[in-house]
Amino acid sequence: MRHNHAILDFQRKRGEGSAAFVLPFLDATTAILDVGCGPGTITAALAKTARSAVGIDISAKAIASAHEMASSARMTNLGFVRGTMTALPFENTRFDIVFFHAVLYHLDAATLAATLSEASRVLKAGGLIATRDADVGGNILYPETSGLQLALDLWTRWYEHADPDSGRFGRRQNAILRAHGFVPVWSGASFVNHSADEPTRRESAADAKHSLQGMSAELMARGLAIRDEIDQALSAWEAWGSNPDSIYLRCRCECVARKPA
Ligand SMILES: C[S@@+](CC[C@H](N)C(=O)[O-])C[C@H]1O[C@@H](n2cnc3c(N)ncnc32)[C@H](O)[C@@H]1O
Repeated sequence: MRHNHAILDFQRKRGEGSAAFVLPFLDATTAILDVGCGPGTITAALAKTARSAVGIDISAKAIASAHEMASSARMTNLGFVRGTMTALPFENTRFDIVFFHAVLYHLDAATLAATLSEASRVLKAGGLIATRDADVGGNILYPETSGLQLALDLWTRWYEHADPDSGRFGRRQNAILRAHGFVPVWSGASFVNHSADEPTRRESAADAKHSLQGMSAELMARGLAIRDEIDQALSAWEAWGSNPDSIYLRCRCECVARKPA
């Protein structure tokens, strides 16, 4: 299989940035579980500091590409399993840390409660849960053209039509974890840089267009957008991607909380 090295490099850097907030809580004795690990780039970044890192995802495709990445990285303390976060295939108290990255924000209340209950079950007493999720209120975008504002608004319409709070999940993580029995010990935020250099900017614009195209039929079917708005938003991303002064920093809120001993 031929790899696009610019994308792989972007994913690796993104993996390291996504894991950075939890690294001070890890050492060579830590067993960590990455729930909803996707292609495993963040799990691999965690494994560099931990004793062992296991990624779990419901998607067979994600787990297959995680296995491929792990075998080319030749890391012996890194493993991946296919399964669901609402019934984790691990014994009680197996892990020191359970980690979620961009996973919890879109769950309904019942699934969120089942997922956090499973996380607690597989955590040691006194172990940590670490979460990092988006909050649209913290994003930095330049230039703020009307087309780009419309593009972001279409995403907001999409994510918020089911749950009006989903776009601002990041800032609520402390409160949510506390409500599910954990005790927050640290919180912060950082950005994902979608405009670091020209290849990253072009890739980000292509991703944004792809994502918008993927949801466009459903947006129109639900009466949340019209064709003309979608076309304007796609052109705005195209223009943003070819402007060397464009900036897009996406806010990710971070929280670390303890399972009571
Ligand atoms: C937005 S992606 C985040 C992937 C990765 N954590 C990252 O940030 O790069 C959400 C991931 O959660 C996974 N997922 C969704 N439902 C799941 C479930 N019930 N159990 C395990 N993983 C699930 C998806 O397959 C997807 O890989």
